[in-house]
Amino acid sequence: MSDQAKEPNGTEKQLKFATKLLHFGSEIDSTTGASSVPIYQASTFHHEDVFNPPVHDYSRSGNPTRQALEDYIALLEGGVRGFAYSSGMAAISSTFMMLSAGDHMIVTEDVYGGTYRLLTSILNRLGIESTFVDMTELDQVKAALKPNTKAVYMETPSNPTLKITDIAAVTSWAKEHDLLTMLDNTFMTPYYQRPIELGVDIVLHSATKFLGGHSDVLAGLAVARTSSIGKQLKMLQNGLGTVLGVQDSWLLMRGMKTLQARMNHSENSAAVLAAWLQGRPDIQHVYYPGLLNHPGREIHEKQSKGYGAVVSFDVGSGERAKQVLNKVKIPLVAVSLGAVESILSYPAMMSHAAMPAEVRHERGITDGLLRFSVGLEDIDDLIADLDQALQG
Ligand SMILES: Cc1ncc(COP(=O)(O)O)c(C=O)c1O
Repeated sequence: MSDQAKEPNGTEKQLKFATKLLHFGSEIDSTTGASSVPIYQASTFHHEDVFNPPVHDYSRSGNPTRQALEDYIALLEGGVRGFAYSSGMAAISSTFMMLSAGDHMIVTEDVYGGTYRLLTSILNRLGIESTFVDMTELDQVKAALKPNTKAVYMETPSNPTLKITDIAAVTSWAKEHDLLTMLDNTFMTPYYQRPIELGVDIVLHSATKFLGGHSDVLAGLAVARTSSIGKQLKMLQNGLGTVLGVQDSWLLMRGMKTLQARMNHSENSAAVLAAWLQGRPDIQHVYYPGLLNHPGREIHEKQSKGYGAVVSFDVGSGERAKQVLNKVKIPLVAVSLGAVESILSYPAMMSHAAMPAEVRHERGITDGLLRFSVGLEDIDDLIADLDQALQG
């Protein structure tokens, strides 16, 4: 897949991100000229000549619709090869299978709750150990190194307190120690942040979120920086069978085409919401990388083009948080984020319920913390609604 296009005079031109979203190589069906990738609803492929097998022979190993999506995300992230999975957790768990029994990983401490559960309840039983560190402090990452450390796992901004990790600093240190680096880029998407350009080996996504964008598809994506990592991920995806179905692959591509337009709108509204919340005396804390006092803002600005559409805030107590959740009228009150409609989540009982309460509290995920994923509604309506929900 090439991200070059010919200018009328024949010279090569690098396409801008918004153009790549629409012109990614498979947007027109080469056989019929149809304006979207066909859905190849087939599990297997006929061998006209057994000595000359078709490109795809069985849909777990490869399918043209899924392949179009995999090439699409590889292009957007600037990697060599992409992979599509049945969920974000399928992408993450398949990638973690690059490790073997006896290996150790260093992981950002406020990692997504499902990733925490995978590491502490499943992979630990298979002899893969992990140490959780505050990745805003490079010294903590360095101190966690063991003779059997094989990988470093980052999430920045992290979920839900939007802590910032210096991606380039961690990857350059990791390379000195021959460690594989992985980063969950769900919150930023390749529109705002392209970790491969900063040396990360594998970028992961819960594409269920901003990439899909419509709360109607569950999917995960991974992108490899090198072809040798790509080969290993391919073997694992096929071997584990964690692939994304073709209908969902198509739906995800359809959602991704509007990524930039959706992110721009939601980010503008998120900035207004964060400032409004920060001005209220009854809000204990507002977390948003675009706020001037957000810790790590300078690092974030160095490595990302935007601040995203997720704002977390502490209303002071679990009781008040539940009151707000029950009183809001516009956002979905739900697990998930990154959709056209706003979604208000309660990390303590939703995304981070898998984390023991004491661990959650240590990581700033208090009982009063709410996470607002700003959608495409008018921001005045969202603020008026939240205002009435916050009134005692
Ligand atoms: C940052 C992050 N990573 C991974 C996941 C897991 O993705 P999925 O729910 O698609 O399995 C989530 C889900 O909320 C997430 O927020």
